[in-house]
Amino acid sequence: MVAHLLVSQNCSYLFPANIELKTFPDKESHILIHDLEACKDKDVQVLHRCYPRQDSSLLQLLLVGKTVRNVAPRAEAIVPYLPYARQDKIWTPGEALSAEVICQMIASAGYSSIATFDCHFLKKAGIFTYGGIQIRNFSLSGDLVAYFKAKKPDALFISPDQGAAYLVNEIGGKSMVKRRGEYKHHKKQAHRPVESMDANFDVKDKDVIILDDMIAGGGTMIKATRAVLAMGAKSVCCGCTHGLFLGDAYTKLQEAGAEEIVASNTIASEASKIDILNSLRGKIIGEF
Ligand code: R5P
Repeated sequence: MVAHLLVSQNCSYLFPANIELKTFPDKESHILIHDLEACKDKDVQVLHRCYPRQDSSLLQLLLVGKTVRNVAPRAEAIVPYLPYARQDKIWTPGEALSAEVICQMIASAGYSSIATFDCHFLKKAGIFTYGGIQIRNFSLSGDLVAYFKAKKPDALFISPDQGAAYLVNEIGGKSMVKRRGEYKHHKKQAHRPVESMDANFDVKDKDVIILDDMIAGGGTMIKATRAVLAMGAKSVCCGCTHGLFLGDAYTKLQEAGAEEIVASNTIASEASKIDILNSLRGKIIGEF
């Protein structure tokens, strides 16, 4: 069955929206699905961004799910960037396993699946079950590789850690080995900084493209860029699916020597040069 598409107001840069997002005066979420009747007895896909303002955006997704499922037998959440995906392991006893909890919550709101791009904890494209819900994970590695190959045909593609190796494996890329240290607890932030990055391959006089699933604070990409340049690379460009670029990460990465920084528009940024629209239209929207 071809699904009926609902588009959240926060995705109106991709398709005309039919889910209105507002807040009540006390800032609680107000959701209005235009023409909910059109969802009756249909499979429904809900396209909604959960970044920025992850916590309230996730709640909006849950409210939409419950409302849709009052009339529709099945629903899929299309969430271009799945937040909390990095908290998929317990490092310190007592931590929440947020990635799993978030997926369980999405399932309990009535969605039978999530469609997303380069989900951090899955580490490859495909269909998986996690947190009690099916996840259809699509990779933008092909788009990133094509973008850079058009500019640097002989470049060596690498990933900054083993987790992102799947982004470059198919084209014979290499992977660095990254180690994060213990949590550094600032007043309000929990963060495990990158302690070391090692590479056991040669980059001398090569154009190097570093691909990762995401650039957040930039620590990983900055360290990888510096390391590769110190090893004698001719040039370094950086690409990722999700460009969060927290604080001055983008500028710092440029200062570290990145010639070009490219991301998709799962999260809108100055680096958004890969459009997810084609993948949404060709692979995701329609049937699930
Ligand atoms: C982690 O393993 C991810 O693949 C990224 O490398 C990481 O999340 C990027 O974070 P940051 O930019 O803060 O180093």
